[in-house]
Amino acid sequence: MKKIFDYNKKHLIECKNLTKKEIQCFLKESEKYIKINKKKIKKTNLLNGRTVFNLFFEDSTRTRTSFEVAAKRLGADLINVSVKDSSINKGETLLDTMTTINSMSPDVLIVRHPEEGISLKISKIVSACVINAGDGSHEHPTQALLDALTIKKRFGNFKKLKIAICGDILHSRVARSNIEILTKLGCKINVVGPKSLIPKDIEKVKVYSSMKEGLKNCDIVMMLRIQKERIISKYVPNEKIYFEKYGLDYNKLDYANKNAFVMHPGPMNRDVEIDSKLADDVTRSLIQEQVTMGVAIRMACLEILINNKDI
Ligand code: CP
Repeated sequence: MKKIFDYNKKHLIECKNLTKKEIQCFLKESEKYIKINKKKIKKTNLLNGRTVFNLFFEDSTRTRTSFEVAAKRLGADLINVSVKDSSINKGETLLDTMTTINSMSPDVLIVRHPEEGISLKISKIVSACVINAGDGSHEHPTQALLDALTIKKRFGNFKKLKIAICGDILHSRVARSNIEILTKLGCKINVVGPKSLIPKDIEKVKVYSSMKEGLKNCDIVMMLRIQKERIISKYVPNEKIYFEKYGLDYNKLDYANKNAFVMHPGPMNRDVEIDSKLADDVTRSLIQEQVTMGVAIRMACLEILINNKDI
């Protein structure tokens, strides 16, 4: 008998279209996986015989491996497609690659790609469920869901929480997805960064260019990776000056509420956007907790989407 979830769609592409009830559905379903992941034996047979493909056209450590761990703990077979050795190099188009893999009857395609909107395009031509694991600067839904789960575990609820998201907002799919999810859950969001790294059309948040003002009364300070490949020289003079003004250290964290927590989606540039010691300080940093919650949320995503595909 299939379950009826509050999230009843086959794909997970963007947070923009998620309702509060749908977000809560993923968070609630993750709870049982948090418990399973603490056990000695973590394997279940819920998705026995199901097939999941990881298709990463951009580098990844956390997202790719946590989807692999999640799928295997649910009993599914996961195939990591080695994109750099694929027939894309012989000129095959991305959409032809996807229809080829779709002909092998997969249940889920997990896609990371630099092109914004590509997961949506793929979802329209395949019968498998599609999960957007990051599409350019657009969205990274499972990252925002795992961030919300991390916050829920630490604070209990979202109401009255004030969160500062700091750094390169302009290029950040993590910021975009988090703003959508956290505002729907009732959080107030400040975004903080150099004017050159804040989108002109940003909505639903307050914008600050000073860490002192932007972190005031915040419960969480979420730092973002400076995308060195795009940023340095074009948007920011150099890493040292950036760290002095926008890098989070203990002194700047004092602008936030007493006992405020630090988050970062990773990978981090230590001592560029975050002080190395602070990043490792488990009394203030939730960074490793975010990774742990990532496995639980991705288990919930796989379960819910495959369930919905079968209905
Ligand atoms: N946060 C995140 O997406 O990390 P990876 O690039 O390592 O997957």
